[in-house]
Formats: sequence, C-alpha cells, structure tokens
Amino acid sequence: MLKIGRVKLKSNLVLAPMAGVSDFPFRALNRRFGCELAFIEMINVRSLSYKMRKTKKMLSTSAQDRPLGIQIIGCEEEFILRAIDILKSYEYDVLDFNAACPVKKVARRGEGAALLKDPKKLHKLLKLIVDNSDKPVTVKIRTGWDSSSINAKEAALASQDAGVSALFIHGRHRDQGYAGEVDYEAIRNVKKALDIPVIGSGDVFSPVLAKKMLDETGCDGLLVARGALGNPWIFKETEAFLKNKKIIKRPGIGKIADIMVKHLGSYIDFYDEPHGVKRFHKFFAWYTKGVPNVRTLRENAFRVKTLKGMLEIIESFRKLTYV
Ligand SMILES: Cc1cc2nc3c(=O)[nH]c(=O)nc-3n(C[C@H](O)[C@H](O)[C@H](O)COP(=O)(O)O)c2cc1C
Repeated sequence: MLKIGRVKLKSNLVLAPMAGVSDFPFRALNRRFGCELAFIEMINVRSLSYKMRKTKKMLSTSAQDRPLGIQIIGCEEEFILRAIDILKSYEYDVLDFNAACPVKKVARRGEGAALLKDPKKLHKLLKLIVDNSDKPVTVKIRTGWDSSSINAKEAALASQDAGVSALFIHGRHRDQGYAGEVDYEAIRNVKKALDIPVIGSGDVFSPVLAKKMLDETGCDGLLVARGALGNPWIFKETEAFLKNKKIIKRPGIGKIADIMVKHLGSYIDFYDEPHGVKRFHKFFAWYTKGVPNVRTLRENAFRVKTLKGMLEIIESFRKLTYV
C-alpha cells in the first residue's frame, strides 16, 4: 500500500512523532490497535551525540516495536553525522529529518521549520543524511515559514532531489503552529510535483477527516497525531471507514477506562510511579474528552501523584454514564 524505500507497509496510516508523547508505551498501545509504522518523538542531534540519559530513554524500543521511525532535528553537519553514526547501533526502519518544528527556540538555531527559509541548505543536509545513513530517509516539512512565503513545493522538490524516499507534510505554515485551517491545496501541489510518496498531516482527527485529506490532496498516506491522543481506536476506525465506509461504534466508558488502566500501568512500568502518574495526567484529559460531567474528575486527576489515587479516579470515571 505505502512504500518508503525498501519498507513496505500494509497500512497508509502512520503514527506521528510527538514530543513528550511518542514514547515506547504509547507506541506499543497504538500498535495493539492497528497502528503499523510509528515514530519516536524528534531527537536533537546534539543530545544524541552526547548520548544523554533522557535521549537514551527516548530511544527505548523492542523487537515488537516495528516498523519504527526515528526523527532527528538539527542543522550542524558534524552533529548530524555523529547522530547517524550512533543510530547505527539501534534497530529501526526509517530515518526522518525534521524541517517542520515551529518552536521559537528551535527556529532561532536555524533548525526545524527555519530550514524552509533556505531550501538549498535543506537539500545539502538531506543529501548528507541520505549519503551516510543505511536506512530510507524521509523529511517532514510544513507549507512554508509564514503566509507570505508558502514554498512547500520548492522545499519538497529539493528534498526529492536530495534522495529522500518519502515526504511528510503538515499542511500549515510555521506561523500557524497547530491552529488554523489545513492548506489542502498546498499538499495537493506537492503531491502532484513529486514522484516519491507524500504523507499528509493536519487535523486527521476522525475517519471522515482522514478521508477528506486523502480526497482533497491525493496524498499516499496520513500522519495521525493529535487524533491518536487518548484515542488509539482511530487506527481501526479509519481503516474500516476508508475500506468500506463502515463506521465502527465509538468505545463506551467501560472500554475507555480499561485502556486507561493498561496505559497507566505501562507508564509506571516504563518510568516509575511518580513519573508514570505525572505523564498520565494529560492522557486522562485526552481519554475523557467529550464525556459530560468529567470536569471535577479531570481537575483531581491533574493533582494526583500515586497509582492508587489515579486508579480511584479512573474507577469514578467508569461509573459515569456515557451519553
Ligand atoms: C504534542 C505534540 C508534539 C509534536 N511533536 C512533534 C515532533 O516531535 N516532530 C514532528 O515532526 N512533529 C511533531 N508534532 C506535529 C505532529 O507530528 C503533526 O504534524 C501535527 O500535530 C499536525 O497534525 P494534527 O493536526 O493531526 O495533530 C507534534 C504535535 C503535537 C500535538
């Protein structure tokens, strides 16, 4: 269905890299629900070169955690090369280069989306990565730096010329951050211009919006990001809808609570109790999104520090009636 270099995928739905989210337990959970290719959150090439403890933890994986994508971010050739070298001792399938991150601190260093302002530099860095990595290399871009400099097509053509095997495009420019309308037309223009697979990103929140992205852009695959937060069901639901327009019934409160308990348990195993519970705070809010009468539980969930406390809140959630 979707082919990234020599990596053949059965599904064209890809779990996006998400900083602070795409850790090993999160990927494992989504894989159980039908996700195939999944990314680790972006890793700075400098941190990777210094092999910091936090970075090593980010790279935790297992034999079942495949196919796996690693995304690097940076702009200094020396550190990029060192990072590629260090990654040679890791098992993974696709190496992505981030030219999309909108964060000010990152852009100020000339990294992430700032590279869109300099397609020649983007080309040079990508060529360096392609020439030195033994994995298929991909790139993630946005539509441009701001509304007056939409240059996704130019950046995409430069990337293809550098030898990347596929391109991910978030249909917003850097100034938009994560808000505002997705520019389907910009993605469609990139898709038309390239020979390599193009994977669209932006507001893939539901099977209907997934189909809209495919229909309006003609792209080859979809990156699922915020749509998977507290919603691992999105993979099966979207697959079914795209295949035969079948709408799978949304999970009820009991099922959501069951998954929350599993997710929380895997966080505590992977981190430790205080860190696992802390990391789960935002997930409680995501899992319970759209459920009525949940405000007090959410407020309590953000304060709780122990496994016992969080389990009690999940059990109180279970007692709510889903309408
Ligand atoms: C919490 C969060 C963290 C993100 N971290 C990354 C990242 O590390 N690398 C990256 O390329 N994109 C990152 N993104 C962007 C997503 O991969 C995706 O392109 C963007 O959210 C648009 O998709 P959506 O509208 O479906 O969420 C992040 C998004 C969110 C919400």
